Amino acid sequence: MPNNENKINAAITAVGMYVPDKVLDNKYFESIVDTNHEWIVSRTGIRERRKLENGATSDLATGAIIDLIKNSNLTPEEIDVIIVATVTPDMFFPPTACIVQNNIGASNSWGFDLSAACSGFLFALRTGASFIESGAYKKVVVVGADKMSSIVDYTDRNTCILFGDAASAVLLEPTTDTSIGLKDSILNIDGSGKDSLYMLGGGSLNPASHETVDNKMHYIYQDGKAVFKVAVKGMADVSVEVMKKNNLTSEDIAYLVPHQANLRIIDATAKRMGITSDKVMINIDKYGNTTAATIPLCLTEYYRAGKLKKGDNLILAAFGAGFTWGASHLVWSMD
Ligand code: UT7
Repeated sequence: MPNNENKINAAITAVGMYVPDKVLDNKYFESIVDTNHEWIVSRTGIRERRKLENGATSDLATGAIIDLIKNSNLTPEEIDVIIVATVTPDMFFPPTACIVQNNIGASNSWGFDLSAACSGFLFALRTGASFIESGAYKKVVVVGADKMSSIVDYTDRNTCILFGDAASAVLLEPTTDTSIGLKDSILNIDGSGKDSLYMLGGGSLNPASHETVDNKMHYIYQDGKAVFKVAVKGMADVSVEVMKKNNLTSEDIAYLVPHQANLRIIDATAKRMGITSDKVMINIDKYGNTTAATIPLCLTEYYRAGKLKKGDNLILAAFGAGFTWGASHLVWSMD
C-alpha cells in the first residue's frame, strides 16, 4: 500500500524565458513566398514569430535558465538535473543539456536531452517530476527550447509561416503539500503517424550527403491537413480524459495551457472541454509554433502578467510529431 502521508509532489517554483529580438511578421513572409497576412491569421492565428540570427538552441535554453535564476533564489550550483526538451539540438552529440550546463555553471548537475517534438515539454515535465517524487533529486530544471528556423525551408509556404524560435524553463522542487504541483499526466505515442510530420535527412536513416541536401531532406516536412485532423481529435480527447480522471469540471479549471500550433486546434480543444476563450492561454499570435517551448512560455508570460495564482487548476495539452500527445493536470504553486 502506498503511504500517502509521505507523498511528495513536484511543484513549479520558478519560471524563465528567452525569445530572440528579431521579429518576422506576416508581411515579411508575403515578400518571400506566395502567402498573405489574412490567410496566415485566419488559418493559424499567427501574426509574428521570432528568429535567432546567431547561435543555437543551447543559447536559447541558456537564456531561459539565466532568466529563471535572476527571478528566483536558485544558484546554478544547486541544480541537480537539467532536462532539455528539443527537436533542434545544437548537434547530435554532445547533448545540448551538457552545453547548457557548462554555460550556466551548473557544476553539480547531470542531465540529458529529451526528444518528443511538440509534446517535449509535457514529457520532460513528467520525467522531471518523477525524479522529485521519488525523493532522488530536489531541484530539476526542465527547459523547452527549439531553434525551429534551423530546420525550416523558407521557400515552402506550407511550413515556413508556422514556426519560431524560443525557450522557456521551469524549476521543479518537492512539496509535501499534495494539493499543488503536477497531479496527473496522460501521455501517448503512436508511431503510425511518423509519415505525416518529420525531418528525413541527417539521421542514421539518411545520413547527410549531397543528395539529402539537394532533396531538401534537412527541412521539416508536414502533411498539414493530415496532422490537423488527428491533432484536433487527439488534443481534445486527452484533455477531456485528464479532466474526467481527476474529477474536474470546466468550472474548476483556471486555464487550458495548450501547445501553440494552430488557433483552430486550440479553440476546438477548449470547446470540447467546455471552457471559454478567456480561460485559454494564447501567445501563438506573437511567437508561432516554438515546438517544445510553447507551454512553458505561456506559463511564464501569464504568471508574470499576474494572471496565475496559487491553487489554480491548469490543464496542459500538446500534440506533435510521432505522433506524440498528452495532457497534464497541474495545480499552480506560486503566489
Ligand atoms: O505542432 C505540431 C503539430 N502540427 C500541427 O498541429 C499543425 C496541424 N496543421 C495545421 O495547423 C494546418 O493544416 C496548416 C495551418 C498547416 C494548414 O492549414 P489548412 O487549413 O489545413 O490548409 P491546407 O493545407 O488544407 O491548405 C489549403 C490551401 C491550399 O491551397 P489549395 O490546394 O486549396 O489550392 C494550400 O496550398 O491553402 C494553401 N496554403 C497557403 N495559402 C497561402 C498553404 N499554405 C499557405 C500559405 N499561404 N502560407
